[in-house]
Amino acid sequence: MAIRKIRKIGDPVLREIANKVDKIDRSIKDIVKDMIDTMKEEGGLGLAAPQIGISKRIIIVRYGDRIDTFINPELEVLDDNMTKSDEGCLSIYSIQGFTVDRYKKVRVRAKNLKGKPLEVTAEGLLAIIFQHEIDHLKGKMFIDHLDPTSRMELLDRVNEFKS
Ligand code: NI
Repeated sequence: MAIRKIRKIGDPVLREIANKVDKIDRSIKDIVKDMIDTMKEEGGLGLAAPQIGISKRIIIVRYGDRIDTFINPELEVLDDNMTKSDEGCLSIYSIQGFTVDRYKKVRVRAKNLKGKPLEVTAEGLLAIIFQHEIDHLKGKMFIDHLDPTSRMELLDRVNEFKS
């Protein structure tokens, strides 16, 4: 299909609450194809639809060689223990070196592209990817999890990229 432009921090679509997908029709399948093409081109371990400017509850996640689609994903925390995550985001210029706290173990319930229910229990990196991508559907980004000092440092780095 097409490689779409990645929306960057400051773009209002990244701060919207994404809309639930009511029907998995042709247009939704086309969006997912574009998301997959875009992630293959840009790299990354996951992508949320708002990152290509579409305010819908759709994420894709890379598991090794596979890329899976989760429509209307709902996240449940299975373990309150936190883990440190050195995170990056295509919408924040893939800047590295900023650590956030994430839950160790989560469960995600969603629908796949065929409309079938999907349930995944995830730990480690996969759990982190789910938390990061599902945050995008709530209008949140990893920068929101940083302490004020680190947040300012990251914003300074973002401004260097823009200038
Ligand atoms: Ni991201």
